[in-house]
Amino acid sequence: MSNRVSIVTGATGEIGRVVAEDVVRQGKHLVIACRSLAKSKVLLGELKSAYPQSEIEYITLDLADKRSIKKFAETIQQKCYIVDELVCNAGILCQYESQNKDDIDMSMAVNYLGNVRLIELLERSLAHDARIINMVPSIRWGSISGDPFHPEDKFHRFRRYANSKLALYAYTQHLARKYDNSAISVYAVDPGLVDTMMITKGRWFEGIADIFLKPFVRTPEKGAETTLYLLSNRPQTTGMAYYDCKIMQFPSDMYTREEWTELWNNTQKYLTEII
Ligand SMILES: NC(=O)c1ccc[n+]([C@@H]2O[C@H](COP(=O)([O-])OP(=O)(O)OC[C@H]3O[C@@H](n4cnc5c(N)ncnc54)[C@H](OP(=O)(O)O)[C@@H]3O)[C@@H](O)[C@H]2O)c1
Repeated sequence: MSNRVSIVTGATGEIGRVVAEDVVRQGKHLVIACRSLAKSKVLLGELKSAYPQSEIEYITLDLADKRSIKKFAETIQQKCYIVDELVCNAGILCQYESQNKDDIDMSMAVNYLGNVRLIELLERSLAHDARIINMVPSIRWGSISGDPFHPEDKFHRFRRYANSKLALYAYTQHLARKYDNSAISVYAVDPGLVDTMMITKGRWFEGIADIFLKPFVRTPEKGAETTLYLLSNRPQTTGMAYYDCKIMQFPSDMYTREEWTELWNNTQKYLTEII
């Protein structure tokens, strides 16, 4: 087995599955990083029967749980794997107000802090020219000011989602600055509005909105296209957001440097917690 791996989080989801299958099709060693053991087993079985020679395994990862993330990163290290590709695809659109075990808003816990913790803990396992992809929708109305880990405003699923994804976008830019003098590339990907469990089960769009939005909703294959493009090409423009395989300019005033500094200082307190 090769010790060079491609990790896809949320591979049991619909966009993630397309990405995972493409990784396997290209003969890369795939690590399915998902919270559901049962779904991971099913996915592994399906991919193995379609690609019998493939190198695939699953390692459980719950991004809402810091212990699970630590255990995942330790397993990667113990196996002496070198991470060529890290596709941070897992994400949630919470339907109800909820927090993780550490009392952190669930959207922030999974979409932001869980990804940050994962990437930071995997740092020593990254290949010198690794690629990291974060899934970030076009967030025009999120906010990272104050304490987004413990929001006090009335719950609104899109606002919480947008805040957590804006935080992830700001972290993506932070990572790109950090790896500026290295061969590591970091990208943000907006897959567009994609017909997946996230928007259907979650009643993302409904009623009259359904009628208007349906023509613009993409298949998971289309939604995965930009991620697959970035995995097979290596654009120099690291730290940028991509949509339809092209750079998408986010407004520069979505967050201020002071807001990011405050968020990053708070984040580091969580990251340095002894587990
Ligand atoms: N669909 C869209 O329109 C759209 C638009 C913009 C961005 N995105 C982003 O694209 C990514 C993929 O979404 P999708 O549309 O393919 O949704 P999906 O089908 O619902 O897949 C989401 C995946 O994330 C996993 N996940 C959720 N919570 C997790 C946790 N705590 N720990 C580990 N994994 C967890 C899910 O696992 P389970 O299978 O166990 O639930 C699932 O595998 C997400 O980051 C999403 O925010 C989607």
